[in-house]
Amino acid sequence: MEFLKRRQSELMMEGVSLEELGRNMGTPLYVYSLSAILEQMQAMQSAFGAHPTTFCYAVKANSNINLLKEIFKQGFGADIVSVGELERALVAGADPGKIVFSGVGKDEGEIRRGLEAGILCFNVESMFELRAISRIAKAVGKKARICLRINPNIDAKSNPKISTGLYTSKFGIPYQSAAEYLALVRDRSEIQLIGLACHIGSQIVDLSPVKNAAQSMVKLCKETIQAGFPIVYLDLGGGLGIQYDQESPPAFQAYADTILSEIKETSLKLILEPGRVIVGNSGVLITKVLGIKRTPAKRFVVIDAGMNDLLRPSMYDAYHAIEPAVTKSGKLELADIVGPICETTDILASDRPLPDVNEGDLLVVKSCGAYGFSMASHYNTRPKPAEILVQGASAKVIRRRERLADLWASEYIEDSQ
Ligand code: LLP
Repeated sequence: MEFLKRRQSELMMEGVSLEELGRNMGTPLYVYSLSAILEQMQAMQSAFGAHPTTFCYAVKANSNINLLKEIFKQGFGADIVSVGELERALVAGADPGKIVFSGVGKDEGEIRRGLEAGILCFNVESMFELRAISRIAKAVGKKARICLRINPNIDAKSNPKISTGLYTSKFGIPYQSAAEYLALVRDRSEIQLIGLACHIGSQIVDLSPVKNAAQSMVKLCKETIQAGFPIVYLDLGGGLGIQYDQESPPAFQAYADTILSEIKETSLKLILEPGRVIVGNSGVLITKVLGIKRTPAKRFVVIDAGMNDLLRPSMYDAYHAIEPAVTKSGKLELADIVGPICETTDILASDRPLPDVNEGDLLVVKSCGAYGFSMASHYNTRPKPAEILVQGASAKVIRRRERLADLWASEYIEDSQ
Protein backbone atom coordinates (compact mmCIF):
# COMPACT_ATOMS: atom_id res chain seq x y z
CA MET A 1 0.00 0.00 0.00
CA GLU A 2 1.13 3.56 -0.74
CA PHE A 3 0.85 5.59 2.47
CA LEU A 4 1.77 8.91 0.95
CA LYS A 5 -0.01 9.99 -2.18
CA ARG A 6 -1.68 13.02 -3.69
CA ARG A 7 -5.44 13.47 -3.60
CA GLN A 8 -5.78 16.08 -6.29
CA SER A 9 -3.22 18.65 -5.24
CA GLU A 10 -2.88 17.69 -1.57
CA LEU A 11 -0.32 15.25 -0.25
CA MET A 12 -2.15 12.75 1.96
CA MET A 13 -0.77 10.38 4.57
CA GLU A 14 -3.32 7.58 4.60
CA GLY A 15 -6.59 9.55 4.94
CA VAL A 16 -5.06 12.71 6.42
CA SER A 17 -4.16 15.87 4.51
CA LEU A 18 -0.66 16.94 5.53
CA GLU A 19 -1.44 20.55 4.61
CA GLU A 20 -4.41 20.59 6.96
CA LEU A 21 -2.50 18.82 9.70
CA GLY A 22 0.43 21.23 9.45
CA ARG A 23 -1.89 24.25 9.57
CA ASN A 24 -3.78 22.89 12.57
CA MET A 25 -0.90 21.53 14.62
CA GLY A 26 1.85 23.98 13.74
CA THR A 27 5.27 23.30 12.29
CA PRO A 28 7.83 21.76 12.34
CA LEU A 29 5.78 18.61 12.82
CA TYR A 30 6.74 14.94 12.65
CA VAL A 31 3.99 12.67 11.31
CA TYR A 32 4.08 8.87 11.08
CA SER A 33 1.82 6.37 9.36
CA LEU A 34 1.01 3.49 11.69
CA SER A 35 -0.23 1.36 8.80
CA ALA A 36 3.13 1.77 7.07
CA ILE A 37 4.98 0.61 10.19
CA LEU A 38 2.70 -2.37 10.72
CA GLU A 39 3.09 -3.37 7.09
CA GLN A 40 6.89 -3.32 7.32
CA MET A 41 6.88 -5.44 10.47
CA GLN A 42 4.51 -8.01 9.03
CA ALA A 43 6.43 -8.19 5.76
CA MET A 44 9.69 -8.74 7.62
CA GLN A 45 8.19 -11.39 9.90
CA SER A 46 6.67 -13.28 7.01
CA ALA A 47 9.93 -13.16 4.98
CA PHE A 48 11.68 -15.14 7.71
CA GLY A 49 8.78 -17.59 7.77
CA ALA A 50 9.09 -20.51 10.14
CA HIS A 51 12.73 -19.93 11.08
CA PRO A 52 12.82 -19.13 14.83
CA THR A 53 13.58 -15.42 14.75
CA THR A 54 13.38 -12.75 17.44
CA PHE A 55 12.92 -9.30 15.92
CA CYS A 56 14.36 -6.71 18.29
CA TYR A 57 13.37 -3.25 17.05
CA ALA A 58 16.29 -0.80 17.35
CA VAL A 59 14.72 1.72 19.73
CA LYS A 60 17.22 4.44 18.79
CA ALA A 61 15.62 4.77 15.34
CA ASN A 62 12.45 6.23 16.80
CA SER A 63 11.77 5.85 20.48
CA ASN A 64 8.37 7.47 20.94
CA ILE A 65 6.60 5.33 23.55
CA ASN A 66 3.35 5.28 21.59
CA LEU A 67 5.16 3.84 18.57
CA LEU A 68 7.04 1.38 20.75
CA LYS A 69 3.75 0.14 22.21
CA GLU A 70 2.44 -0.61 18.73
CA ILE A 71 5.69 -2.29 17.75
CA PHE A 72 5.86 -4.51 20.85
CA LYS A 73 2.17 -5.46 20.44
CA GLN A 74 3.18 -7.16 17.19
CA GLY A 75 5.57 -9.44 19.05
CA PHE A 76 8.75 -7.49 18.41
CA GLY A 77 11.36 -7.18 21.17
CA ALA A 78 13.84 -4.32 21.55
CA ASP A 79 17.46 -3.59 20.76
CA ILE A 80 18.53 -0.95 23.28
CA VAL A 81 21.74 0.98 23.88
CA SER A 82 21.18 2.80 27.16
CA VAL A 83 19.28 2.53 30.41
CA GLY A 84 17.04 5.30 29.08
CA GLU A 85 16.05 3.13 26.14
CA LEU A 86 15.62 0.17 28.50
CA GLU A 87 13.19 2.07 30.73
CA ARG A 88 11.33 3.43 27.70
CA ALA A 89 10.98 -0.05 26.28
CA LEU A 90 9.73 -1.43 29.60
CA VAL A 91 7.24 1.42 30.03
CA ALA A 92 5.98 0.65 26.52
CA GLY A 93 5.41 -2.98 27.46
CA ALA A 94 8.44 -4.73 25.97
CA ASP A 95 8.99 -8.34 26.99
CA PRO A 96 12.33 -8.27 28.88
CA GLY A 97 13.01 -11.73 27.48
CA LYS A 98 13.20 -10.13 24.03
CA ILE A 99 15.52 -7.23 24.89
CA VAL A 100 19.12 -7.18 23.72
CA PHE A 101 21.42 -4.56 25.21
CA SER A 102 23.87 -3.35 22.55
CA GLY A 103 26.43 -0.58 22.73
CA VAL A 104 30.14 -0.06 23.05
CA GLY A 105 30.13 1.42 26.57
CA LYS A 106 27.64 0.32 29.21
CA ASP A 107 28.09 1.76 32.68
CA GLU A 108 27.65 -0.01 35.98
CA GLY A 109 24.11 1.27 36.58
CA GLU A 110 23.03 0.16 33.12
CA ILE A 111 24.41 -3.33 33.62
CA ARG A 112 22.75 -3.62 37.05
CA ARG A 113 19.38 -2.50 35.69
CA GLY A 114 19.62 -4.85 32.71
CA LEU A 115 20.30 -7.77 35.03
CA GLU A 116 17.51 -6.79 37.37
CA ALA A 117 15.03 -6.45 34.49
CA GLY A 118 15.97 -9.94 33.23
CA ILE A 119 16.81 -8.96 29.67
CA LEU A 120 17.56 -11.63 27.07
CA CYS A 121 21.23 -10.66 26.78
CA PHE A 122 24.00 -8.08 26.82
CA ASN A 123 25.87 -7.90 23.54
CA VAL A 124 29.40 -7.63 24.87
CA GLU A 125 31.93 -5.58 22.93
CA SER A 126 35.09 -5.52 25.02
CA MET A 127 37.14 -7.21 27.75
CA PHE A 128 36.43 -4.37 30.15
CA GLU A 129 32.69 -4.83 29.61
CA LEU A 130 32.93 -8.58 30.11
CA ARG A 131 34.79 -8.03 33.39
CA ALA A 132 32.27 -5.45 34.55
CA ILE A 133 29.28 -7.68 33.76
CA SER A 134 30.97 -10.56 35.51
CA ARG A 135 31.72 -8.48 38.63
CA ILE A 136 28.22 -6.98 38.81
CA ALA A 137 26.45 -10.29 38.14
CA LYS A 138 28.40 -11.85 41.02
CA ALA A 139 27.61 -8.94 43.31
CA VAL A 140 23.86 -9.15 42.67
CA GLY A 141 23.80 -12.94 42.57
CA LYS A 142 22.43 -13.18 39.03
CA LYS A 143 23.61 -15.05 35.95
CA ALA A 144 24.19 -12.70 33.02
CA ARG A 145 23.24 -13.95 29.58
CA ILE A 146 25.55 -12.54 26.94
CA CYS A 147 26.29 -12.65 23.23
CA LEU A 148 29.73 -11.64 22.02
CA ARG A 149 29.40 -8.89 19.44
CA ILE A 150 31.96 -9.72 16.82
CA ASN A 151 33.45 -7.27 14.34
CA PRO A 152 33.84 -9.43 11.21
CA ASN A 153 35.94 -6.82 9.35
CA ILE A 154 33.44 -6.56 6.51
CA ASP A 155 32.70 -3.35 4.64
CA ALA A 156 28.93 -2.75 4.65
CA LYS A 157 29.35 -0.63 1.48
CA SER A 158 27.20 2.06 3.06
CA ASN A 159 28.04 5.59 4.17
CA PRO A 160 31.31 5.26 6.18
CA LYS A 161 29.76 7.41 8.92
CA ILE A 162 27.19 4.71 9.65
CA SER A 163 29.38 1.66 8.97
CA THR A 164 30.52 -0.43 11.90
CA GLY A 165 31.90 -3.67 10.48
CA LEU A 166 35.56 -2.86 9.83
CA TYR A 167 38.48 -3.04 12.24
CA THR A 168 38.84 0.73 11.93
CA SER A 169 35.51 1.07 13.77
CA LYS A 170 35.18 1.18 17.56
CA PHE A 171 32.47 -1.49 17.51
CA GLY A 172 32.67 -5.16 18.36
CA ILE A 173 35.33 -7.70 19.22
CA PRO A 174 37.78 -8.36 16.39
CA TYR A 175 36.83 -11.66 14.73
CA GLN A 176 40.32 -12.96 15.29
CA SER A 177 40.12 -12.26 19.05
CA ALA A 178 36.96 -14.31 19.67
CA ALA A 179 38.97 -17.22 21.14
CA GLU A 180 40.43 -15.02 23.90
CA TYR A 181 36.94 -13.99 24.96
CA LEU A 182 35.68 -17.56 24.90
CA ALA A 183 38.55 -18.57 27.17
CA LEU A 184 37.50 -15.91 29.65
CA VAL A 185 33.83 -16.86 29.53
CA ARG A 186 34.55 -20.56 30.05
CA ASP A 187 35.63 -20.12 33.65
CA ARG A 188 32.81 -17.87 34.77
CA SER A 189 29.71 -19.46 36.20
CA GLU A 190 27.99 -16.06 36.52
CA ILE A 191 28.10 -15.64 32.73
CA GLN A 192 26.11 -17.66 30.23
CA LEU A 193 27.14 -17.30 26.61
CA ILE A 194 23.96 -17.73 24.58
CA GLY A 195 25.14 -16.57 21.16
CA LEU A 196 27.26 -14.47 18.86
CA ALA A 197 26.26 -11.15 17.34
CA CYS A 198 27.36 -8.68 14.71
CA HIS A 199 26.09 -5.44 13.17
CA ILE A 200 28.12 -4.24 10.22
CA GLY A 201 26.36 -0.97 9.51
CA SER A 202 23.22 0.85 8.61
CA GLN A 203 21.39 1.78 5.37
CA ILE A 204 22.79 -1.32 3.66
CA VAL A 205 21.45 -1.67 0.12
CA ASP A 206 23.82 -4.32 -1.20
CA LEU A 207 23.27 -7.90 -0.05
CA SER A 208 26.83 -9.12 -0.59
CA PRO A 209 28.16 -7.77 2.75
CA VAL A 210 25.12 -9.27 4.49
CA LYS A 211 25.91 -12.64 2.93
CA ASN A 212 29.59 -12.41 3.85
CA ALA A 213 28.77 -11.44 7.43
CA ALA A 214 26.24 -14.26 7.81
CA GLN A 215 28.75 -16.72 6.37
CA SER A 216 31.61 -15.66 8.68
CA MET A 217 29.36 -15.58 11.70
CA VAL A 218 27.86 -19.02 11.03
CA LYS A 219 31.41 -20.38 10.72
CA LEU A 220 32.40 -18.80 14.04
CA CYS A 221 29.22 -20.09 15.70
CA LYS A 222 30.04 -23.62 14.55
CA GLU A 223 33.60 -23.31 15.90
CA THR A 224 32.24 -21.94 19.17
CA ILE A 225 29.85 -24.88 19.55
CA GLN A 226 32.69 -27.29 18.73
CA ALA A 227 34.77 -25.62 21.42
CA GLY A 228 32.14 -26.69 23.94
CA PHE A 229 29.85 -23.65 24.21
CA PRO A 230 26.21 -24.60 23.62
CA ILE A 231 25.20 -21.31 21.99
CA VAL A 232 21.72 -21.06 20.49
CA TYR A 233 21.51 -17.57 18.93
CA LEU A 234 23.04 -15.78 16.01
CA ASP A 235 22.24 -12.05 16.13
CA LEU A 236 22.88 -10.42 12.75
CA GLY A 237 22.01 -6.90 13.88
CA GLY A 238 20.03 -4.39 11.87
CA GLY A 239 21.08 -2.32 8.91
CA LEU A 240 18.68 -3.08 6.09
CA GLY A 241 18.35 0.09 4.00
CA ILE A 242 15.37 1.99 2.66
CA GLN A 243 14.78 4.15 -0.39
CA TYR A 244 15.51 7.83 0.21
CA ASP A 245 16.45 8.80 -3.35
CA GLN A 246 17.47 6.57 -6.27
CA GLU A 247 18.81 3.64 -4.26
CA SER A 248 17.02 0.30 -4.58
CA PRO A 249 17.24 -1.59 -1.31
CA PRO A 250 16.64 -5.32 -1.35
CA ALA A 251 13.16 -6.65 -0.65
CA PHE A 252 12.63 -8.37 2.70
CA GLN A 253 12.43 -11.75 0.99
CA ALA A 254 15.81 -11.35 -0.73
CA TYR A 255 17.35 -10.21 2.56
CA ALA A 256 15.78 -13.14 4.42
CA ASP A 257 16.79 -15.67 1.77
CA THR A 258 20.40 -14.43 1.89
CA ILE A 259 20.56 -14.95 5.63
CA LEU A 260 18.52 -18.14 5.77
CA SER A 261 20.61 -19.83 3.10
CA GLU A 262 23.65 -19.43 5.36
CA ILE A 263 21.99 -20.44 8.62
CA LYS A 264 19.58 -23.15 7.57
CA GLU A 265 22.06 -26.02 8.02
CA THR A 266 22.47 -25.08 11.67
CA SER A 267 20.03 -25.18 14.56
CA LEU A 268 20.78 -21.56 15.44
CA LYS A 269 17.91 -19.21 16.22
CA LEU A 270 18.11 -15.76 14.70
CA ILE A 271 17.98 -12.36 16.34
CA LEU A 272 17.60 -9.31 14.11
CA GLU A 273 17.72 -5.66 15.17
CA PRO A 274 15.94 -3.69 12.45
CA GLY A 275 15.36 0.01 13.02
CA ARG A 276 15.29 2.19 9.92
CA VAL A 277 13.53 -0.34 7.69
CA ILE A 278 10.61 -0.54 10.13
CA VAL A 279 9.95 3.17 10.64
CA GLY A 280 12.05 5.15 8.13
CA ASN A 281 9.65 5.54 5.24
CA SER A 282 6.62 5.84 7.50
CA GLY A 283 7.46 9.35 8.66
CA VAL A 284 7.58 12.89 7.31
CA LEU A 285 8.55 16.25 8.69
CA ILE A 286 6.21 19.11 7.79
CA THR A 287 7.86 22.50 7.74
CA LYS A 288 6.82 26.02 6.76
CA VAL A 289 8.62 28.32 4.37
CA LEU A 290 9.63 31.40 6.33
CA GLY A 291 10.74 33.22 3.23
CA ILE A 292 12.86 33.26 0.11
CA LYS A 293 16.23 34.91 -0.17
CA ARG A 294 18.31 35.25 -3.29
CA THR A 295 22.02 35.94 -3.58
CA PRO A 296 23.97 36.19 -6.83
CA ALA A 297 24.88 32.52 -6.29
CA LYS A 298 21.76 30.86 -4.87
CA ARG A 299 18.04 30.77 -4.24
CA PHE A 300 17.60 30.03 -0.53
CA VAL A 301 14.30 28.70 0.76
CA VAL A 302 14.43 29.38 4.48
CA ILE A 303 12.21 26.99 6.44
CA ASP A 304 11.21 26.67 10.09
CA ALA A 305 12.84 23.24 10.56
CA GLY A 306 16.55 23.20 11.25
CA MET A 307 19.37 20.76 11.79
CA ASN A 308 18.22 20.55 15.41
CA ASP A 309 14.95 19.00 14.17
CA LEU A 310 16.45 16.79 11.44
CA LEU A 311 20.19 16.29 11.76
CA ARG A 312 20.77 13.70 9.04
CA PRO A 313 21.49 16.03 6.09
CA SER A 314 24.09 18.07 8.00
CA MET A 315 25.64 15.10 9.73
CA TYR A 316 25.79 12.54 6.91
CA ASP A 317 25.00 14.59 3.80
CA ALA A 318 21.85 12.50 3.78
CA TYR A 319 19.27 12.97 1.06
CA HIS A 320 15.59 13.48 1.93
CA ALA A 321 13.03 14.09 -0.80
CA ILE A 322 11.15 17.35 -0.23
CA GLU A 323 7.82 18.32 -1.83
CA PRO A 324 5.29 21.07 -1.29
CA ALA A 325 2.28 19.83 0.72
CA VAL A 326 0.03 21.33 -1.97
CA THR A 327 1.19 20.99 -5.57
CA LYS A 328 2.73 24.14 -7.01
CA SER A 329 2.63 24.73 -10.71
CA GLY A 330 5.46 26.27 -12.66
CA LYS A 331 8.91 25.12 -13.57
CA LEU A 332 11.45 23.68 -11.20
CA GLU A 333 14.38 25.84 -10.17
CA LEU A 334 17.34 24.88 -8.00
CA ALA A 335 17.23 25.95 -4.38
CA ASP A 336 19.11 25.43 -1.16
CA ILE A 337 16.52 24.55 1.48
CA VAL A 338 17.96 25.85 4.73
CA GLY A 339 16.93 26.05 8.36
CA PRO A 340 17.02 28.94 10.82
CA ILE A 341 19.98 27.65 12.86
CA CYS A 342 23.09 29.79 13.07
CA GLU A 343 25.34 27.25 11.37
CA THR A 344 26.49 27.16 7.76
CA THR A 345 25.79 23.42 7.66
CA ASP A 346 22.12 23.91 8.52
CA ILE A 347 21.08 22.82 5.03
CA LEU A 348 18.33 20.26 4.50
CA ALA A 349 18.92 20.09 0.76
CA SER A 350 21.35 21.80 -1.58
CA ASP A 351 20.81 22.59 -5.23
CA ARG A 352 17.46 20.84 -5.15
CA PRO A 353 14.98 21.34 -8.00
CA LEU A 354 11.92 22.94 -6.39
CA PRO A 355 8.91 24.82 -7.80
CA ASP A 356 8.34 28.46 -7.03
CA VAL A 357 7.38 28.18 -3.37
CA ASN A 358 6.43 31.22 -1.32
CA GLU A 359 6.44 32.47 2.22
CA GLY A 360 3.92 30.49 4.29
CA ASP A 361 3.83 27.39 2.04
CA LEU A 362 4.22 24.03 3.73
CA LEU A 363 6.88 21.57 2.59
CA VAL A 364 6.98 17.87 3.38
CA VAL A 365 10.37 16.28 4.05
CA LYS A 366 10.06 12.56 3.38
CA SER A 367 11.52 9.40 4.95
CA CYS A 368 12.02 11.01 8.36
CA GLY A 369 10.58 8.20 10.50
CA ALA A 370 14.00 6.86 11.52
CA TYR A 371 16.75 8.93 13.17
CA GLY A 372 14.66 12.06 12.71
CA PHE A 373 13.03 13.03 15.97
CA SER A 374 15.30 10.68 17.93
CA MET A 375 18.34 12.76 16.93
CA ALA A 376 16.63 16.13 17.45
CA SER A 377 18.21 18.55 19.90
CA HIS A 378 17.49 21.86 21.55
CA TYR A 379 20.34 23.65 19.81
CA ASN A 380 19.69 27.39 19.51
CA THR A 381 17.19 26.91 22.37
CA ARG A 382 14.54 25.53 20.08
CA PRO A 383 11.74 23.37 21.45
CA LYS A 384 11.40 19.93 19.87
CA PRO A 385 8.52 19.43 17.41
CA ALA A 386 5.27 17.62 18.16
CA GLU A 387 4.77 14.10 16.82
CA ILE A 388 1.57 12.76 15.30
CA LEU A 389 0.52 9.18 14.58
CA VAL A 390 -1.83 8.70 11.65
CA GLN A 391 -3.96 5.66 11.01
CA GLY A 392 -6.67 5.83 8.37
CA ALA A 393 -8.40 9.17 8.81
CA SER A 394 -7.29 9.63 12.43
CA ALA A 395 -4.34 11.73 13.56
CA LYS A 396 -3.31 11.37 17.19
CA VAL A 397 -0.81 13.58 19.03
CA ILE A 398 1.79 11.19 20.44
CA ARG A 399 4.08 13.92 21.73
CA ARG A 400 3.08 17.47 22.40
CA ARG A 401 5.19 20.30 21.11
CA GLU A 402 7.67 21.39 23.77
CA ARG A 403 7.06 24.68 25.49
CA LEU A 404 9.85 27.17 25.97
CA ALA A 405 9.73 26.70 29.74
CA ASP A 406 10.45 22.96 29.23
CA LEU A 407 13.81 23.96 27.84
CA TRP A 408 15.17 25.52 30.98
CA ALA A 409 13.14 23.60 33.58
CA SER A 410 16.13 21.47 34.58
CA GLU A 411 18.39 24.50 34.99
CA TYR A 412 16.66 25.73 38.15
CA ILE A 413 19.01 24.35 40.77
CA GLU A 414 18.29 25.19 44.40
CA ASP A 415 21.20 27.00 45.96
CA SER A 416 22.22 24.78 48.86
CA GLN A 417 24.59 27.35 50.41
N1 LLP B 1 21.80 -2.73 16.01
C1 LLP B 1 22.86 -2.01 16.35
C2 LLP B 1 23.86 -2.60 17.24
C3 LLP B 1 23.00 -0.71 15.85
O1 LLP B 1 24.09 0.00 16.18
C4 LLP B 1 22.03 -0.16 15.00
C5 LLP B 1 22.14 1.19 14.48
C6 LLP B 1 20.91 -0.96 14.68
C7 LLP B 1 20.84 -2.26 15.19
C8 LLP B 1 19.80 -0.48 13.79
O2 LLP B 1 20.25 -0.24 12.52
P1 LLP B 1 19.22 0.11 11.35
O3 LLP B 1 18.38 -1.12 11.11
O4 LLP B 1 18.38 1.23 11.82
O5 LLP B 1 20.07 0.47 10.21
N2 LLP B 1 21.81 7.91 12.78
C9 LLP B 1 22.18 7.21 11.59
C10 LLP B 1 22.08 5.71 11.76
C11 LLP B 1 22.91 5.20 12.90
C12 LLP B 1 22.69 3.73 13.17
C13 LLP B 1 23.25 3.35 14.47
N3 LLP B 1 23.10 1.98 14.79
C14 LLP B 1 21.34 7.70 10.42
O6 LLP B 1 20.55 8.62 10.60
O7 LLP B 1 21.48 7.22 9.32
